[in-house]
Amino acid sequence: MSQRKLFVTTALPYANGNFHIGHIMEYIQADTWVRAQRMQGNAVNFVGADDAHGAPIMIAAEKAGKTPQQFVADIAAGRKPYLDGFHIAFDNWSNTDSPENHALSKQIYLDLKQAGFIETRTIEQFFDPEKNMFLPDRFIKGECPRCHAKDQYGDNCEVCSSVYAPTDLINPFSALSGATPVLKTSEHFFFKLSDPRAVEFLTEWTQDGKHVQPEVAAKIKEWFGVRTNPDGSTSEGLDDWDISRDAPYFGIEIPDAPGKYFYVWLDAPVGYLASLKELLNRRGEDYDAYMADPDLEQYHFIGKDIITFHTLFWPAMLKFSGRKTPTRICVHGFMTVNNGEKMSKSRGTGLDPLKYLSLKMNPEWLRYYLGAKLNGRNEDIDFNPEDFMLRVNSDLIGKYVNIASRAAGFISKRFEGKLGAVSEDGQTLLAALREQKDAIVAAYEGRDTARAAREIMLLCDKVNSYVDANKPWELAKQEGMDARLQDVCTTCIEAFRLLTIYLKPMLPAVATQVEAFLNVQPLQFADAATLLGAGHGIGKYEHLMQRVVVEQLDALFEPPAAPVVEAVKPGGEEIAPTITIDDFAKIDLRIAKIVECKAVEGSTKLLQLTLDAGEGKMRNVFSGIASMYRPEQLEGKLTVLVANLAPRKMKFGISEGMVLAASHADEKAEPGIYVLEPFPGAQPGMRIG
Ligand code: 2FM
Ligand code: ZN
Repeated sequence: MSQRKLFVTTALPYANGNFHIGHIMEYIQADTWVRAQRMQGNAVNFVGADDAHGAPIMIAAEKAGKTPQQFVADIAAGRKPYLDGFHIAFDNWSNTDSPENHALSKQIYLDLKQAGFIETRTIEQFFDPEKNMFLPDRFIKGECPRCHAKDQYGDNCEVCSSVYAPTDLINPFSALSGATPVLKTSEHFFFKLSDPRAVEFLTEWTQDGKHVQPEVAAKIKEWFGVRTNPDGSTSEGLDDWDISRDAPYFGIEIPDAPGKYFYVWLDAPVGYLASLKELLNRRGEDYDAYMADPDLEQYHFIGKDIITFHTLFWPAMLKFSGRKTPTRICVHGFMTVNNGEKMSKSRGTGLDPLKYLSLKMNPEWLRYYLGAKLNGRNEDIDFNPEDFMLRVNSDLIGKYVNIASRAAGFISKRFEGKLGAVSEDGQTLLAALREQKDAIVAAYEGRDTARAAREIMLLCDKVNSYVDANKPWELAKQEGMDARLQDVCTTCIEAFRLLTIYLKPMLPAVATQVEAFLNVQPLQFADAATLLGAGHGIGKYEHLMQRVVVEQLDALFEPPAAPVVEAVKPGGEEIAPTITIDDFAKIDLRIAKIVECKAVEGSTKLLQLTLDAGEGKMRNVFSGIASMYRPEQLEGKLTVLVANLAPRKMKFGISEGMVLAASHADEKAEPGIYVLEPFPGAQPGMRIG
């Protein structure tokens, strides 16, 4: 089959907060799919970006005393540890305030205008007379016109769930200034989705069974039907979409309309194209030529809360501006923890991805667990800690890793690491494993990783039964059974290689380790057709994965410490008794560079630092900061070392000094611990005082 050309994206996260588990779940799903495509030899460009624009971000930036650009850049700076941590390999990560996105959004708008899809209308809207701005619905509050609950948002009531216009609120006030808003008219720009051409196109596009899952198509169909409006009137078909906002707004200015900006949802999906363009430009490839290829397939992975934008507005924008429309919108449900709270974008609680990583929990446990739950349909999934532990320990350790650990030792100890020939029963087993390849590849293609995982585990069971039936540990003790021992263990290693191929999209780092152990090139699906073969030398087996232990899950879900009550000082303790300058001078504080930083096997608290304090030799220091930092966050940074502290013998070695870190006296009140870092310019070895 010829190589497919794929362009893949995940929804662009608002740049006003860190990733939560809902984002990570989507990225893992898409990353797994992309890896499976690449393993079939398909060419994929996989991009993401921060969704930078809109009133909420503008307002949050103002509150933080930053420009919106600075605010967004600061959020973007925190993305890498999550993406690297969970092996999510975007080819490019941009943001929607990029020059490419400004230009593309304007061009798409102009093309839509040219095609007769843009209209202006004067509308009445609430205006904050103190802040001098039109108020987004979310920033208007008041009493619910139906149930009279106080302090409800301008678009819907959280008490009785009714939906209304902000102008229906009783005693409305601005959530920004508290002022009573006044009604003011303004000219707005609309994308005419009510145009029969749009209705015809979208009806076909959403219902032809090719672009969305059936359950999603059914949901969309309802939106085309007859609806009752809040004012009691009815409408049919699609409403026009209001795509403009008035200044002040953090966004992209509409061409020839000073003071008018694109509503954030107009330029956000254009950010998919802009991020791709940035990537292609960087590689010196031509974006227009790439997009013009009729064989190019375009996939968007999104959550169920943003279906409208991706199945109506976005395909229509592309279609009527004369561009390629998406091949498929892949919708997933939400994730709950312990059947609990919804992991919504604004209230991501429950499972903190960075905490997961800082507890040294293996990212591939989560990749596999989510993979084993996601079936490609728009359904919610639940993270259940016991289920997680059971799944990972029994599937990955008990069934998969076990196969290698049962066979590898004999091959290296008894046969100098060389594989032997596989006799008939082994060949039969391997053939059974190979036979499932197409089904597994198809499951990945349909994002039914749950099915892929099920199939793979059934194959693992087969291999383990083979091991149990042939008992290599007994063969090893029997005279004259060397050839059979090598045969059985070779079969296991060959089988393990096939299983690794199948699991690789979900377990990319484990697969890399296995490739090194087996002494092979990066595995592709096509490699399932081959054998390593007699005489192939394998490396030394290193344990591939630890089991999940219950303490890790307890720590992961430990509720955040109770807030400090009463007026405890920031440090929580009294200032120590006065000392003289001579007392202070006894402490030799030096700037030190963290040359290397490693986790300490057997300790969840400590990190091991190799420090250069300008002495011409390195220092080894253990520091109790593992709960806050991952080693790669610290490597290369400067910090402060107590250089003349007596060396201390610890369980894991000798600590030659101490690095300075700030913490609260009462660990329960504020468990954080923050390493000190000097201003730029400081050099290793400089004295502090
Ligand atoms: O719902 C959200 O988080 C949006 N920021 C998603 C945008 S997806 C795309 F259109 F950019
Ligand atoms: Zn109400």
